[in-house]
Amino acid sequence: MTTDNQIIIFDTTLRDGEQSPGASMNQAEKLRIATQLEKLGVNVIEAGFPAASEGDFEAVKAIAETLKTAQVAALCRANEDDIKRGWEAIKDAAHPRIHTFIATSELHMKYKLQMEPEKVLEQAIKSVKLAASFTDNVEFSAEDGSRSDRDFLCKVFEAVIDAGATTVNLPDTVGYAIPEEYAQLVTYVMENTPNMHKAVLSVHCHNDLGLATSNTLAAIKAGARQVEVTVNGIGERAGNTSLEEVVMSLHTRPNYFPQTTTIDTKRIYPTSRLVSMITGILVQPNRAIVGANAFAHEAGIHQDGVLKNPMTYEIMNPETIGLNKNNLVLGKHSGRHALNDHVQKLGYNLTKEELDRVFEKFKRLADKKKSIQDEDIEALINEGVLRSSETFCLEYIHVLSGNTVFPTASVQLNINGQPVQGATEGTGPIDAVYNIISKLTGTKSKLLRFTISALTEGTDAQGEVMVRLEEDGIVALGKGSDSDIIIASALAYINGLNRLEYLKKHPVVKHENL
Ligand code: KIV
Ligand code: ZN
Repeated sequence: MTTDNQIIIFDTTLRDGEQSPGASMNQAEKLRIATQLEKLGVNVIEAGFPAASEGDFEAVKAIAETLKTAQVAALCRANEDDIKRGWEAIKDAAHPRIHTFIATSELHMKYKLQMEPEKVLEQAIKSVKLAASFTDNVEFSAEDGSRSDRDFLCKVFEAVIDAGATTVNLPDTVGYAIPEEYAQLVTYVMENTPNMHKAVLSVHCHNDLGLATSNTLAAIKAGARQVEVTVNGIGERAGNTSLEEVVMSLHTRPNYFPQTTTIDTKRIYPTSRLVSMITGILVQPNRAIVGANAFAHEAGIHQDGVLKNPMTYEIMNPETIGLNKNNLVLGKHSGRHALNDHVQKLGYNLTKEELDRVFEKFKRLADKKKSIQDEDIEALINEGVLRSSETFCLEYIHVLSGNTVFPTASVQLNINGQPVQGATEGTGPIDAVYNIISKLTGTKSKLLRFTISALTEGTDAQGEVMVRLEEDGIVALGKGSDSDIIIASALAYINGLNRLEYLKKHPVVKHENL
């Protein structure tokens, strides 16, 4: 039940967010994020696009069967096959929603769809009617809405509401809108769609000009009551509106925005970390709300002020988003119980077996590193839980390097249960490791990017490596961490190869407009 002032948070991290290059997730990863989003208090979770691939269908189905309170939406193009497939995936959800869309701008109708406006209107009505025959929770999106003819947009919205749409969405698909102009469009649509009171008006913005959050907030001011967002703003090209920016804007400026959300803000930071960990997309340090520097004060005058009264330079309390500034947490003598407590505070619910694996890794790390921080624990979870049941696993690695030897790597992998080993040289230790792993796995991926950073302060910190791989046009990200940076590099590469394997087995059918 929503009140007039409650903004419906529709999260599309698992659908539009997954369209970020290389961010594909497997079913277990999607389920983990969906469960976290439900705990975060998201109202609608767009779980995927079931007609896009078998993998997407299965993931949406698993999410639909698991979630209890959040609505689960399936994206479908405005055609019979997509809608039937979408419904098949979500029909067992506690609260299913079919989300169907078709483009309404002249540019898209003429060049992409090659359809006359009247045909588009007809297709939209037919699709919404079909969706409404399955459920009374139907969303219709007018793709490229912000560049569509205003009166045609109102005509389409009026017709689809009559056909059974309960939410109509006005996307700024290409991130072209400017806040004032977008707000005026929202007002126009609300005033010129006669049956608008029978549906919720939603907005969906992309960040090509860096205006996605501003446009979304302007639309809320103008009367939109659903916002479509992603965690960390991930998404196609420059990304989507970020969940945390919109929610914290409403939360921090209640005098300006009387609107509220059901988001438990304390879960924002753990959710952001989880999404970054699973997708391998790093959060830039200066990112609003969730970036590493968002609450860091370098200038002496700021530090002095914050010590006297945090509100001098901090408009939000870091604890409000679940960021525990004093995150020096565990050490060598901490037990399984303390670890589990902390793991839960970070937003993860592990099974007993998962916790056992993480605890074993934790003990090994604690022998090498004095203080274990949140970042370390998350890295252990990433290594011990999120990447279980993969095709390639590292069993053994030995590397010779220095200024008087040819860098050489000996590696043993477990490939589908079989141990295989070998050794080879390279221009450096990482090149040697990557050469032998590529040979053992029989893969021919190209390394597009390699980055390394320290997870925490100090020379005993764990190194975190990110790689971006490409094979036959498929791009995947890989991530690895360890206190030995050569091992971290090997783990990142193997993780990337596993993701490529997954994508090869679950090809995503590329549609003309997704
Ligand atoms: O950006 C867009 O227009 C979309 C629609 C499918 C809602 O993602
Ligand atoms: Zn989009």
